[in-house]
Amino acid sequence: MSSPMIVGTGGPLRGRLSVPGDKSVSHRALLLNALADGPAKIEGLLHSEDVEATLGAVRALGVEVEKGAHTIVRPPPRLTEPRDVLDCGNSGTSMRLLCGVLSGLSIHAVLTGDASLRQRPMARVATPLRRMGARIDGRDGGRLAPLSVRGGDLTPTDHVLDLSSAQVKSALLLAGLKCGVRVREPGPSRDHTERMLARMGADIRLDDDGFWALHPSSLSPMDITIPDDPSATAFLLVAASLVEQSDVVIEALGVNPTRTGAIDALRLMGAEIEVSPREWPGAEPVADVRVRASGLRGIRIDGDLALRALDELPVLAVAAAFAEGETVIADAAELRVKESDRIARMAGGLRGLGFEVEERPDGMVIQGGRPRWPTTVDATGDHRIAMSFAVASLAGADVGILGAEAVRSSWPSFFDDLEALRA
Ligand code: S3P
Repeated sequence: MSSPMIVGTGGPLRGRLSVPGDKSVSHRALLLNALADGPAKIEGLLHSEDVEATLGAVRALGVEVEKGAHTIVRPPPRLTEPRDVLDCGNSGTSMRLLCGVLSGLSIHAVLTGDASLRQRPMARVATPLRRMGARIDGRDGGRLAPLSVRGGDLTPTDHVLDLSSAQVKSALLLAGLKCGVRVREPGPSRDHTERMLARMGADIRLDDDGFWALHPSSLSPMDITIPDDPSATAFLLVAASLVEQSDVVIEALGVNPTRTGAIDALRLMGAEIEVSPREWPGAEPVADVRVRASGLRGIRIDGDLALRALDELPVLAVAAAFAEGETVIADAAELRVKESDRIARMAGGLRGLGFEVEERPDGMVIQGGRPRWPTTVDATGDHRIAMSFAVASLAGADVGILGAEAVRSSWPSFFDDLEALRA
């Protein structure tokens, strides 16, 4: 195993930065345009391993993707059967959304991924897709990848989800493009797919009874400029809040309300964050965001707020550790089945630094304080664990990060970009 990455404390973070394109929107820009009836241009596509996995799969289905200053997606008249397995790497979004896409096609394909992805729960997509008529098989009784998907003529079906998951909701909507489908979830997971489908001409709306109702639709291509990723930005918002005299502006940040939980939580904690909306083409609201160092205090993050800050909870746990007082993170059991068990890894790493953290099945309770001794954390296979402890390090923790190369999933230049802000 390679030696641990040490970020180290240093001066304030200052300057303007454009963080990488939104990962969720990048996956969808490729997949939805692959299903459209003409070519589309994507600007600002995230270049990272996760999005490369979706791009590779889309190409294997017969779509021509030209990469240059921007990305051109040219779908064939109909998507074709891939000649080999589709490797989703570490990317749950690729695997689950592709499961939906493939279910709606009369072809056979096999989806696999790395060791972490092959352990992540797939019944949440496979079971409802089977109800629509897709034939999906896999390890452990069809619950784990590799998954074999044989799609075709599906039946319009109503789905009442017991879990709020944008990946599951999106998979069902994509599967239902030809036959129609209705999906209801308990809370507001990110709605990029619904927004994009509507923009591309699909007959989709939110019914009075809370169902997203999609009627059989064809899709017109959609040119799109991808906004900056709010989940990536959260690392900078926390770092700049914690490191004295920091002042950072993030340009063209996606501020879709289903994604702004971290900004809301940090403001409740006392962070100084200014959001200045700006004009942006497409379906997503965008703003420039300025964050300045400030003292933070503990809060409770649960319910819809926890859902709207789902991917940012690891770095919010770091904010909580350096804040004054107690922070409770609850209603976030999903964190245990992400790229790693993020509750166990965050609680373990913070405790390793001497913080007082109680681990709960659906979250953690963190007593704010100062780090007391050095530790090493293992971020193997989980980009957000690596970046969270890099932020802890900037804030004064003596922490070595094993497997720091995991940042390639979503933000390959993360450590260089941090350096640039410190210079
Ligand atoms: C995502 C949805 C969320 C999120 C993931 C990206 C998406 O996962 O955690 O990083 O792009 O749809 P779940 O749908 O499993 O909650």
